[in-house]
Amino acid sequence: MKKRNIIIDCDPGIDDIVALCFAFANEENFNILGITTVAGNQTIEKVTDNATGLMSFLNKDIKIAKGVSRPLVREKKPASGVHGENGVGDYQFPHTKEIYSDNAITFLRDTIMASEEKVTLVPVGPLTNLALLIKTFPEVMEKIELLSIMGGSTDGGNVTPSAEFNVWADPEAARIVFDSKLSIVMSGLNVTHSTGLYREDVDHLLKSSGKITKMCGEILNFYFKGDHVKEGTFTPIHDACAIMYLVHPELYKFRHMDVVVDCSEGMNRGNTVADVRDWINYDETYPKVLVDVEMEKFREILLENLYKLDEVYK
Ligand code: RIB
Ligand code: CA
Repeated sequence: MKKRNIIIDCDPGIDDIVALCFAFANEENFNILGITTVAGNQTIEKVTDNATGLMSFLNKDIKIAKGVSRPLVREKKPASGVHGENGVGDYQFPHTKEIYSDNAITFLRDTIMASEEKVTLVPVGPLTNLALLIKTFPEVMEKIELLSIMGGSTDGGNVTPSAEFNVWADPEAARIVFDSKLSIVMSGLNVTHSTGLYREDVDHLLKSSGKITKMCGEILNFYFKGDHVKEGTFTPIHDACAIMYLVHPELYKFRHMDVVVDCSEGMNRGNTVADVRDWINYDETYPKVLVDVEMEKFREILLENLYKLDEVYK
């Protein structure tokens, strides 16, 4: 099967790390052309350190490009309470690898334009880098196959009652991306609240003798210390959903619908107003919004792939 060229734009971030590991377990499906970082869960320095730290931990050489340090307009607000002061639940990665570029925007442009095939972008943090890319270098638009976005929601938020964190952090950037007419698949909270692992899954990971699974167990265990995990029994791994869709689209139901990002101040900031009225038919030029997922199959495939990585990275 032909491999899909991808670049993952992330703010590691506990679930970002697990999503990256899932992508590395599927390199028979992907040419991972690079990883770009963006300020979100933590500062740009910390999220970039976590990305290079993961490469060091795996001794893996994927190009990492450091992105933008703050949203287009709003103030940055790291999510220390959810991801910890260092962004990965205070897990200490080694640091033997360096970044490839300190400018994610030119790295994205150069990499996309140099690729013979179109490129799929997988943004799983605030959309600041993506917005700057398409505004600064519009020539990339025709070389972008798809945006598989973790962000937004069709039914309520997490960082506020109405907004999902990635969109809330930089609503102006999200508006630019969702209005771009690029082909979009949206993994919103309405499905990612069901894409994750149970407490006992994480307990098994914690007891694992495998390098990758034990690390994932330790960083995911931090999530359960927070008050955002459903009665301590299940933790969403939001970002893995945007990668899983590319490997197993059959797990999902979707509908094309218009998605408008609210850039107002106050309680509606970052709300993604998705038109869920099912009597209105939107064509394929509108975002493909995931509306349901086979939760148990997602969990089984994610766990199977993480344990598979233990055999690759000893
Ligand atoms: O709302 C969930 C998103 O916010 C995830 O990408 C998580 O990593 C945080 O960035
Ligand atoms: Ca993220």
